[in-house]
Amino acid sequence: MEVTLRAAGPDDAGFLGDMLVEAVCWRPGAVRLDRSTLLDTPELGHYVLGWPRPGDRGVIAETPDRDPSGGPGRPTPVGAAWYRVFDPADPGFGFVSAGVPEVSIGVVADWRGRGVGRRLLSALLAAAAADGVPALCLSVEHDNPARHLYLSLGFRMVANDAGACTMVRTTAPAEEVSPPQGAAE
Ligand SMILES: CC(C)(COP(=O)(O)OP(=O)(O)OC[C@H]1O[C@@H](n2cnc3c(N)ncnc32)[C@H](O)[C@@H]1OP(=O)(O)O)[C@@H](O)C(=O)NCCC(=O)NCCS
Repeated sequence: MEVTLRAAGPDDAGFLGDMLVEAVCWRPGAVRLDRSTLLDTPELGHYVLGWPRPGDRGVIAETPDRDPSGGPGRPTPVGAAWYRVFDPADPGFGFVSAGVPEVSIGVVADWRGRGVGRRLLSALLAAAAADGVPALCLSVEHDNPARHLYLSLGFRMVANDAGACTMVRTTAPAEEVSPPQGAAE
């Protein structure tokens, strides 16, 4: 089934909360927090509460409505990637600096492994570049397979602790490298 992308808006805050649950409780067999418990936990809730604030950006993946009558209906969201600027006084787990927003991402379980996450994160990186955001950061636990996605899209590890690492990706395309001094035009 076709999956389309669109920018996240104020009405998507609830779905971003659901995808934050997926990101926090990613480990198979983990106890699942419900959305309201998660949002009431300060170090987790601040990834979504007050969405959208200035500087926030998000992308939603959705499928066409499966209206049994065949008519048009509301599309169903199946994944989201978003970034948020954190205050140094209230940093996210992957905080690097005030000018580097932090990424969160989640895809509905039934939709994983079909390229949705890659499309979402690629679109978010393009949006950041278009907005003049120099880099994005994130935090990922060492054994989360999402690390492979991040590495393949150019995120690089900048800090490491016992459970998780912080990764950063500049938004400049890799080919935008200055020519050596004195090179012919
Ligand atoms: C991480 C996540 C967003 C990726 O979305 P997705 O739609 O499943 O990813 P894609 O199908 O686009 O796959 C992208 C890459 O992710 C990696 N990957 C994702 N899940 C994987 C898994 N379970 N096992 C191995 N590799 C995996 C693969 O390297 C894959 O690369 P490929 O395209 O070369 O095959 C999704 O699996 C998810 O929601 N996981 C739970 C929430 C989570 O962990 N969020 C991140 C917290 S840091």
